[in-house]
Amino acid sequence: MTDTPKNTPENTPDTPPPRSHGRLAVSPSLTPRPLMQDRPRLAGAWEARVITLFPGAFPGVLGESLTGKALAEGLWRLDTLDLRSFGIGKHRNVDDTPAGGGAGMVLRADVLGAAIDAASQGLPDRTRWPLVYLSPRGRPFDQATARRFAACDGITLICGRFEGVDERVLEACEIEEVSLGDFVMTGGEIAAQAVIDATVRLRPGVLGNAASTEEESFSNGLLEHPQYTRPAEWRGRGIPAVLTSGDHGAVDRWRRAQAERLTAERRPDLWRAFTAQQAGKPRED
Ligand SMILES: C[S@@+](CC[C@H](N)C(=O)[O-])C[C@H]1O[C@@H](n2cnc3c(N)ncnc32)[C@H](O)[C@@H]1O
Repeated sequence: MTDTPKNTPENTPDTPPPRSHGRLAVSPSLTPRPLMQDRPRLAGAWEARVITLFPGAFPGVLGESLTGKALAEGLWRLDTLDLRSFGIGKHRNVDDTPAGGGAGMVLRADVLGAAIDAASQGLPDRTRWPLVYLSPRGRPFDQATARRFAACDGITLICGRFEGVDERVLEACEIEEVSLGDFVMTGGEIAAQAVIDATVRLRPGVLGNAASTEEESFSNGLLEHPQYTRPAEWRGRGIPAVLTSGDHGAVDRWRRAQAERLTAERRPDLWRAFTAQQAGKPRED
């Protein structure tokens, strides 16, 4: 095990010091703790509940820019639930050695199960509120999944650590596993923030210009066309003349052709799916 948290004052639950996030103070709790307590709670606001050993990692980058502004305005909510609070004994142990031997530690089923029970209180069914474990073994996260999550009332995200979680919790609680990609991180917190960011920006009112989610990469099965802005010439490079021609039809055709070229060159998997869909055929992958 390389990433077991040390018994530092930060993660010793007997004397949990508050963590500062500017105006936010985050400390362990047995119930989901809102990270923006002084903000309006708008009816119907999408909500993310995060089960984590590191609540101090939130809101992290989600507190910045458009997601941060929307969080402050109450357009969405972010609650953390400190897994350490559900730990066993004086030291609030949350992990143990893997059955069958081997390296590392595994998050205990009883500890994680209790945290999930606490986080699930009062929630609608899973079609309205998915329960997700961030895991390299999960289905790759994509724009379609972000759209599905954004159409729900909220989501509960479980951030793993060490070698992961006891399999029985995943089975018993019918937890959906979602991966950020084919690589291994030390914990699920960054993955959770990526999933929340991609989902929240699809919620009404979060982005200033709603059209930007309709034209961006993946929205129509293609990667996005190249973008340009001022200056008109930079280090000897100009902007494609069609973009400054004022001919909107020509601009649209150029952008479409560029999107198709980039997709075919860089993402053969997406290109196959796109051409099959255009031909009215079922997808092969
Ligand atoms: C060191 S990883 C565990 C890896 C696990 N032993 C395996 O080989 O599949 C610790 C935690 O980081 C998170 N994690 C790591 N890589 C991830 C990825 N690509 N997508 C989502 N979560 C990931 C998961 O929550 C995981 O439980």
